[in-house]
Amino acid sequence: MDANKARRFLEALKGMGIEGYFFERKDELTLAMVQREVKACTQCPLSRTRKSVVFGEGNARADLVFVGEAPGEEEDAQGRPFVGRAGKFLDQMIQRIGLLRKDVFICNVLKCRPPNNRDPDPAEVDMCKGYLFTQLQLIRPKVICTLGRHAYNTLMNADARITKIRGQFTEFNGIKLLPTYHPSFLLRNEERVKEALEDMEKLREILKKW
Ligand code: URA
Repeated sequence: MDANKARRFLEALKGMGIEGYFFERKDELTLAMVQREVKACTQCPLSRTRKSVVFGEGNARADLVFVGEAPGEEEDAQGRPFVGRAGKFLDQMIQRIGLLRKDVFICNVLKCRPPNNRDPDPAEVDMCKGYLFTQLQLIRPKVICTLGRHAYNTLMNADARITKIRGQFTEFNGIKLLPTYHPSFLLRNEERVKEALEDMEKLREILKKW
């Protein structure tokens, strides 16, 4: 992304509490800079109960980005996204596309764990979502796969039920977006795994075209 575009984008984030970016060498905003900012974030009360900030990880130039909901206990302990049971399942889903975890980028709507794994609070999402938007703007993948309703509804500014929209491609800021089920939901609802695997097949197909 060129620096002017990045500046305009960050201007648009003002009012969402994200104003403190700075530009370093070559006047270029990088994922590493955003990570530094997020790690120091104390905007919402989750910053007082977290053990770590889970920024996200993977290939900063990935064609495919997965967006989950929020870190759980294991992720909070390790500072990495999707490393618990749901994460193992996500790894298998990624393999169905013919990719490895290191090939994609994995992040969440919230960067800090909500206590007792409760649902993200709308105010927390509002304060945190600018970080996600910036990550996506900088990585600029070919496809985003949202995991569960929170990720989809945050990016699409919607209030949709996951069963109604899963498997249907849409677009976020000109980037293709495919909503699928959250791996934790799939662990509890085995009968839905078939649909999620169909979605992985769609991702494999669309990525092949580039
Ligand atoms: N669930 C999520 O939504 N994200 C994680 O990182 C782990 C579990």
